[in-house]
Amino acid sequence: MNTFWSVTVAVVTIANILACLWLLVWTSKKQPGEVADGAEKEHVWDEDLRELNNPLPRWWLHMFILTIVFGLGYLVAFPGLGNYPGLLDWTQEKQHDERLEAVKERREAFYAAFEGKSIAALANDPAARRFGGELFSIQCAGCHGVDARGAVGFPDLADDVWLWGGAPETIRASIARGRQAAMPQFYATLPQDVVPDLITFVREWDDARLTQARAERARQTFQRTCAACHGAEGHGNPALGAPDLRNGEWLYGGDPDAVRHTILFGRNGNMPAFGDALGATDIDLLAAYVYGLGEAQ
Ligand code: HEC
Ligand code: HEC
Repeated sequence: MNTFWSVTVAVVTIANILACLWLLVWTSKKQPGEVADGAEKEHVWDEDLRELNNPLPRWWLHMFILTIVFGLGYLVAFPGLGNYPGLLDWTQEKQHDERLEAVKERREAFYAAFEGKSIAALANDPAARRFGGELFSIQCAGCHGVDARGAVGFPDLADDVWLWGGAPETIRASIARGRQAAMPQFYATLPQDVVPDLITFVREWDDARLTQARAERARQTFQRTCAACHGAEGHGNPALGAPDLRNGEWLYGGDPDAVRHTILFGRNGNMPAFGDALGATDIDLLAAYVYGLGEAQ
């Protein structure tokens, strides 16, 4: 604010207060021609409604004066008159910084209890688990569910089946760096007639319903096309996030249609990375919480 506006604001403010004071004093004085206190005035409304001349009680008037005194005192202590900073030197910015500092200190003290601890140790610490659970419901429940039980395409984190691995540091890496699964699509490369048998093979593994020749062909197709990622025995590969196809757990559903869709059109599950959005301790706490869920099994 430049000096002109600063002075204008100060003058207008003080003039207003003084005008209020003057108004109070003026109205509390007897006006010429006024009837005595408590006497009836001349007006009559609605035939018999009369007005008495009762002044404000004194204490009420004094309260008005007190508010004016308070206002003036306030304007001396705090910034309110243009650029005048006030005797206390209070500013919004200072108050904001102080409060922020206080919050930071509390936060640091809270995190200090968890810092430098291993994920396994945090998983055994009820306070860490509780806070990890709160973080989970804010950051993760939208995809993995409030109970971490997942949904189609979103893995169950509370069981002991892992796509990428369930060791504490591996879980931490899944959260911090994210995971991008790449199951290729095969609709263009697999012979049409082998697909139904491959589906049966993958679902049932050694299915007696397939004739020897067809089972053999499905097995060979699997070895040639799928084993590189899912393993020769179909038990998956955590380095690629390729699921174990024989454990009875299905990320995308184990019915023939779901498996056909997976094989023909591929799947690209994407776990977002949280390493930039959250602090290192937050990620430790989340990893501990998730690890603890699996432990409880
Ligand atoms: C390049 C590696 C790769 C190859 C080759 C591959 N897969 Fe996959 N597969 C994956 C990955 C990774 C996933 C997990 C996808 C996800 O999480 O989104 C997956 C998922 C699947 C699933 C879904 C499992 C579930 O739990 O829902 C099935 C079924 C499957 N693959 C079958 C096959 C078959 C059959 C073949 C061969 C025709 C094959 N895959 C070839 C990497 C591969
Ligand atoms: C936008 C949805 C989404 C959010 C949000 C999300 N995830 Fe995931 N997460 C996924 C998907 C999808 C996968 C599976 C990726 C794949 O197909 O391999 C996954 C995989 C994982 C895995 C690996 C599971 C395994 O079996 O190896 C962990 C651990 C995990 N998430 C933890 C978390 C945590 C903790 C949070 C919260 C900080 C979180 N996720 C938030 C979608 C999400």
